[in-house]
Amino acid sequence: MQKKIRVLIAKPGLDGHDRGALVIAQGLRDEGMEVIYSGLRQTPEQIVAAAIQEDVDCIGLSILSGAHNELFPEVTRLLKENHAEDILVIGGGVIPDDDIPFLQKHGIKAIFTPGTSISEIAQFIKGVSLEDKGTVSNSSVKKIDHLGIAVHHLDEAIPFFQDVLGLKLLGKEEVVTEGVKVAFFEVGETKLELLEPLNKESPIYKHLEKRGEGFHHIAFEVDNLIQQFDWMKENGFPLLQDKPKDGAHGKKVGFIHPKSTHKVLVEFCEIPIKE
Ligand code: CO
Repeated sequence: MQKKIRVLIAKPGLDGHDRGALVIAQGLRDEGMEVIYSGLRQTPEQIVAAAIQEDVDCIGLSILSGAHNELFPEVTRLLKENHAEDILVIGGGVIPDDDIPFLQKHGIKAIFTPGTSISEIAQFIKGVSLEDKGTVSNSSVKKIDHLGIAVHHLDEAIPFFQDVLGLKLLGKEEVVTEGVKVAFFEVGETKLELLEPLNKESPIYKHLEKRGEGFHHIAFEVDNLIQQFDWMKENGFPLLQDKPKDGAHGKKVGFIHPKSTHKVLVEFCEIPIKE
């Protein structure tokens, strides 16, 4: 299984403020990474030594003193000297836009200026580290099982799909754990799921309040839901629940938070083997 992404947050140079660095360190931990913090006033030698010793995937350099043009390239130079240039180096702090091309030329893969959200930084690190390491995905997605559509009333929505589009209605069902009543239609290998809220606590009720009717989630069938969950967790994708739960048709289902999936609510489901 893929290990967690390890990050060293390091403060090179002389400035004595690390509130920002500590906020980033905690934020990346919340995103599922293992984060080591170097402490203040580290030399590039100390930073590179710590990165190699701790076997990190990424070094995040944070600087306020203005010495980034000297210290950042020194870090990448030392990494190369120690044959550790596969470690991703990113930087942040008070860095004028004009200096960014220079730093990128010296191997700093990204500069995050104040105001960048932590989730943006986390997405960047995850993207590069999966790509660079040629990670073999442990995801077991087989196909799209269904697309979920939120509606106010099933009975008002069903005729369009059944009579106008001519889709086969597979059945209606209440999923009490989710606070919904659902109707499934067959569309070739895939299905459509219409979801009507059963009560005001239902996530579908909240969705309708906020955005009205329409597309709600995409559900992927996976071979092994527990393994899929572990894989998503290891890569820092926040799950909407700790364990799979019961969905429609006795399927086990689980959702990933849309903030890390390009705003698409992703459901994974495992079809139980029929006895
Ligand atoms: Co669904």
